[in-house]
Amino acid sequence: MMRDDVKKVLFTEQEITERCRQLGKQITEDYKDRGNDLLIVGILKGSLPFLAELIKYIDLYVDIDFMIVSSYEGTESSGSIKISHDLGTEAEGRDLLVVEDIVDTGLTLSNLTEYLLSEKKARSVEIVTLLNKPSRRLEEVNIKYCGFEIENEFVIGYGLDYNQKYRNLPYIGVLKEELYQH
Ligand code: IMP
Repeated sequence: MMRDDVKKVLFTEQEITERCRQLGKQITEDYKDRGNDLLIVGILKGSLPFLAELIKYIDLYVDIDFMIVSSYEGTESSGSIKISHDLGTEAEGRDLLVVEDIVDTGLTLSNLTEYLLSEKKARSVEIVTLLNKPSRRLEEVNIKYCGFEIENEFVIGYGLDYNQKYRNLPYIGVLKEELYQH
């Protein structure tokens, strides 16, 4: 079965839920007097379980929309991102909160933030990520809200995949080494 592939659990479902509760409370506090409804932007597919849990604890009127974004890694065009699904909601002049599963090199989010500010003309763009891997950063990203910081190891579960699998694990874990294809 799928769960037999997990070498160790880094964060349990209960720990993630508790962290979402804390982050949601903080976000509620920070945005409650902004005068416009927050637009929550989920980055598919990885952010889905985190977003679903987090929004339960945001006690504000919010809009929710999704984007599909990927970065070109290891090429000269590392300064650009591919947007295969863009926002369907007007973002001009609004406060945006981008929800991501993990910030790794930072290429995706640094470019996306720039896009949302300059092209979509958002008033503000902040980031909430479930995980942060600071040791791998290539581009600076201003992360306002972070669930957990992790070492440089490949993690799966709670939205995070390996070859599109394991997103449905209810916790965050590390795969058994023999299952990675090098
Ligand atoms: P980056 O910050 O532009 O490098 O891209 C982050 C993206 O890489 C995330 O949205 C994930 O899809 C993927 N990623 C990075 N590290 C991991 C990991 O440890 N497990 C699964 N996916 C990862």
